[in-house]
Amino acid sequence: MLFQRTLLLTAAFGSVAFMTASAVAAAPAAAVSPVLMTADAADPHSFARPREARVTHVDLDLRFDFAARQVSGTATLDIDRRPGARAIVLDSDGYQVTTVTDAATGKPLGFAFGAKDQNLGRPLTIQLAAATRKVRIAYSASNAAALQWLTPQQTAGKRQPFLFSQGEAILNRSWIPTQDSPGIRQTWSARINVPIELTAVMSGLRSDEVNVTNGGRRTYEFHMDKPVAPYLIAIAIGDLKFQPLGPRTGVWAEPATLPAAAKELEDTEKMVATAERLFGPYRWGRYDMIVLPPSFPFGGMENPTLTFLTPTFIAGDKSLVSLIAHELAHSWSGNLATNATWADFWLNEGTTTYATSRIVEAIYGKRVADQQIALGIDSLDGELKAQAAPDTRLAIDLKGRNPDDGMTDIAYEKGAAFLRVLEKEVGRARFDPFLRKWFADHAFQPVTSAMFVAAVRRDLVRGNPALERRLQLDRWVYQPGLPANAVPADAQAFAEVDAAVAAHARGTLPTATWARWTTDERLRFLNRLPRQQTRASLDALDRAFGLNAIGNDEVRFAWLSLAVANRYDAAVPALDAFLKAQGRRKFVRPLLLALNKDQSWGRPIALRLYPQARALYHPLVTGELDKLFGA
Ligand code: BES
Ligand code: ZN
Repeated sequence: MLFQRTLLLTAAFGSVAFMTASAVAAAPAAAVSPVLMTADAADPHSFARPREARVTHVDLDLRFDFAARQVSGTATLDIDRRPGARAIVLDSDGYQVTTVTDAATGKPLGFAFGAKDQNLGRPLTIQLAAATRKVRIAYSASNAAALQWLTPQQTAGKRQPFLFSQGEAILNRSWIPTQDSPGIRQTWSARINVPIELTAVMSGLRSDEVNVTNGGRRTYEFHMDKPVAPYLIAIAIGDLKFQPLGPRTGVWAEPATLPAAAKELEDTEKMVATAERLFGPYRWGRYDMIVLPPSFPFGGMENPTLTFLTPTFIAGDKSLVSLIAHELAHSWSGNLATNATWADFWLNEGTTTYATSRIVEAIYGKRVADQQIALGIDSLDGELKAQAAPDTRLAIDLKGRNPDDGMTDIAYEKGAAFLRVLEKEVGRARFDPFLRKWFADHAFQPVTSAMFVAAVRRDLVRGNPALERRLQLDRWVYQPGLPANAVPADAQAFAEVDAAVAAHARGTLPTATWARWTTDERLRFLNRLPRQQTRASLDALDRAFGLNAIGNDEVRFAWLSLAVANRYDAAVPALDAFLKAQGRRKFVRPLLLALNKDQSWGRPIALRLYPQARALYHPLVTGELDKLFGA
């Protein structure tokens, strides 16, 4: 079997090398997770050379200094090395190293930073002594790209500062000295020293012991004893309180945000139970969430045991909680079975997008799920037009580029569309057990597109030539565009809204129905309107539905996108407020890029607003926008 042979050939070295393939597959979670050694699993976005030496565990001992906006301390790395290996190569992006020692002997080890790559940072090469198994790096990081330090003013409570990290895709190398490749899984532990007024949380379990130390500071301890991709190590520090939601679920937030957050998240425990029924046991212990300040650059981030969330999902009516289903689904697709490199990002996000609609269907019904699938297909159609043909492949070539270039709706929506084809062709009775087996077989391991295709052939196609022809597996995974066997959206899903869009072209507004439409229906309506609208038509829409003052951020974004496309001055105050109220990249970036493209009307607006809004945005958002609008 291809999969077993891959493991046998590739099971790293040291202790792992002597295990049989089945022993590796059956190893308990805490065992070392092998690095795949096939060519398609070589990560062009990491300097690590895992064949020679690899990190298996990271132990952090860190002090967070809010005045200096600096993190400093030590990272102690357990390493597994080939007998002849003389050095280990880590990833780095901006942190400063003071000393590197052999953690067993305390003897200094030589180290050197290599040349800087504009996307990847620099390699950090550490010389190993003959017996070195553990290295300790003393370091500090200021201006780390993964970390956003917020002033009290930028929080809900306005009294304490806040800090959070965002590791995906390759940002953790700015504050954690390790091998930052999703194919090199590591267990980790951490001691985190913070001002006594603040609470620290991480993407692992917190030890009960909290040590109060001198000088008004406190140290928290965390550990993750399952090997995870290093982009999944995450931290948040602030004025945080916890509210349980169910036996294994709960939410952290600033006290001012906690009640509304808990209300919006009341279905979470049910979602975990549903996801387990669909995808197999939940293997991470707890599923907690943290609602971050509005500058959090994503809707959500699937950090293990602790999903990070934007506060903008709190619409008051649970209309945006498919976000939770999505981040929860990553507990299987992404966190258990993880893309070995960013070329296979669709395995994380496409599988998760498919899994999300299964959870949504089970909890909120087929109609809601079908509508969300139809919205996804609309975005996919847009993305297929926007991207160059080679970038519409699921298995994408990102060598020499920032992995963010692959973070498009091709990965999310073409990936999900592929899984819907498999589901349709073989039926849920076979597809659901297949998915459960895929997650179980690859739990705590890296996966590639080729491994997925091989599993489909082995477990679903099973030599059936007619099925093989119908599926077009290789076209889906390796060719550009959308194969002809894609499952079309349910034409009935939005029948009423689509009729309203047609009526709007004839001058009629959906005044009677808008008020009872769901968020998804409103989104379909706004996104399906022709991009060119007259000022009078936009005035009428705003007057009828109060769009400049709408509270739901997804609807607000859809409206503002239409407004900017039509140079609609009356929406500029709403645009101004929106860009200064939240920092979600998905909202901020397209609006500012659209403004920027419109030299005479839009760019002057962006040049005025960006400097005022910039402090709110995470470094991963400002990195690109600073180049357009100046810092
Ligand atoms: N893992 C992603 C967020 C991400 C992707 C961070 C790439 C960095 C690089 C997360 O699960 C995600 O997809 N978030 C979406 C949620 C949506 C699809 C429901 C978001 O933030 O918009
Ligand atoms: Zn995701």
